[in-house]
Amino acid sequence: MSVWTPNSWRDLPVKQLPTYPDLTALQSIEAELKQQPPLVFAGEIRSLKADLARVSRGEAFLLQGGDCAESFNEFSADKIKDTFKLLMQMAVVLAFAGSCPVVKVGRIAGQFAKPRSSDTETIDGVELPSYRGDNVNSAEFTAEARIPDPERMLKAYHQSSATLNLLRAFSRGGFADLHQVHKWNQGFVSQSPAHEKYEALAAQIDQALSFMAACGLNSDNTPQLSETTLYTSHEALLLPYEEALTRQDSLTNGWYDCSAHMLWIGDRTRQPDHAHVEFLRGVQNPVGVKVGPTTQVDDLKRLLEILNPENEAGRINLIARMGADKIGDHLPQLVRAVNDLGVNVVWSNDPMHGNTVKASSGYKTRSVDAILSEMKAFFEIHKAEGSYAGGVHFEMTGNHVTECVGGAYQITESALAERYITQCDPRLNADQSLELAFMIADTLKAARK
Ligand code: PEP
Ligand code: CO
Repeated sequence: MSVWTPNSWRDLPVKQLPTYPDLTALQSIEAELKQQPPLVFAGEIRSLKADLARVSRGEAFLLQGGDCAESFNEFSADKIKDTFKLLMQMAVVLAFAGSCPVVKVGRIAGQFAKPRSSDTETIDGVELPSYRGDNVNSAEFTAEARIPDPERMLKAYHQSSATLNLLRAFSRGGFADLHQVHKWNQGFVSQSPAHEKYEALAAQIDQALSFMAACGLNSDNTPQLSETTLYTSHEALLLPYEEALTRQDSLTNGWYDCSAHMLWIGDRTRQPDHAHVEFLRGVQNPVGVKVGPTTQVDDLKRLLEILNPENEAGRINLIARMGADKIGDHLPQLVRAVNDLGVNVVWSNDPMHGNTVKASSGYKTRSVDAILSEMKAFFEIHKAEGSYAGGVHFEMTGNHVTECVGGAYQITESALAERYITQCDPRLNADQSLELAFMIADTLKAARK
C-alpha cells in the first residue's frame, strides 16, 4: 500500500465533494483552519477507542445519536442542552434498566456535511445544485445560496467549538450528576407513556443513590456519579475540512483527525479504492463504516483490511443501515464473514437511513414501527450468529418535532406539518427516542440473563 499522508486522498477518485468555484479562496480557508486549535485531543480519542474495545468484547453498549445535520440557523444553547439531556436520559435507561455500561457518542459539534443521492434538486421545474450541508452551501432554494462557499467551513469550525465547550461544561459542571435524573425529563406531552416510565425509573435511581449515600458514596467522593463523558462524531465527508484539522500527536507521533473523536464513512463514499477510505485509513480515530444493503462480503473484508490491518480493538464500528425489509436478507452473511475473519469490531445499527419514505403529503419521513422492526431484526440476527449487537445509531433531537410517524404518542402523516424543521432527514423526537431506549434496555437485559 502506498504511503499515507493527510493529503494522499487527493490523488484518488472521490465522490460527494463540492466543486468550489474559487480555488484560491478555498486554499486560504484551508490554511486558516490549519492554524486553529484542535477541537478534541488525541488522549480523548484513545479513551474512546478503549471504551469501544469494551463494547467489541460485549462489556458495554454504544449509544450514538444526534442531528441528521446541524444547522447555522438553529444553533442555540437550548438546542444543545436538549440534545444532551436526551442522550443522558437514554443512557440512564440503558444503563439502569439494561444493566449495561453505556458509551455515549453524539452526532454533534461537527455534523454538517451531507452526502446526497442526486447532484441537483428540481422544484416547480427549476433545477439547482443540491444542498450539501451548512458547511458547504445553504438550504435556501436559490442559485446563489447553492454555490459552495469555503468560508462556511470556518463558521462550522467555530460553531463546533462553541458546542463542544458547552457539552464539556454540562458533562463536568454538575448538570450530568445522577442526582439530576428528574430534571432531564422533557416530555413532548406531559402524559406520554415513555416519560411516565422514565419518572418511575428516576425514582428508583433516587432510591439507589440514597442507599449509596448512606454507605458513604456521594457526588463529592465518587466522580462517576456527578460527571460523564460525551464523545463527538460526524461523517468525515468534507475532506478538505477533515484534512485541515488533522494533527500529529506529540506523544505517539500518530495522526489524529481532531475535528471529532469518532468519524464515519457514509454508505455512498465507502469504495475501498477511493479518497474517503484513503483519508480515514491513516488517522488513528475510531472509524465508523456504514454497511448498507449493497455492501458485498468481499468489499467489507477489503475495508476491514485497509482500515484496521492490525486488528486493533475499538478501531472499527460497523454501522448496519439496511432497512427493515432488507436486513434479514443482507446482514446475516456479513456478520458471518466478520465472525469467520475473527476480527474485532463493534456492530451497531442505524435503523434510520434504510427506512426513509415519502409521505403522501410530500414530507420525507420514517415510521417508528419500521425503525423498531429493523432494530429487533438486528438483535435477533446477532443472537442467531453468536455475535454481539453492540450499539445503536439514531437521528434524533431533544426538540419537540413531528418528523417521524408513529410512536406511543401517535404522530400521523397529517401531523407531520406541525413541527417539521429538520435540515435534512426526519429525526426521532424526545418521546420516540426514549420509547426506543426502553425497548433496547429490555432486549439488553434479556440477553444478559
Ligand atoms: C447519515 O448518517 O447522515 C447518512 C447520510 O447515512 P448513510 O451514509 O448511511 O446514508
Ligand atoms: Co441522515
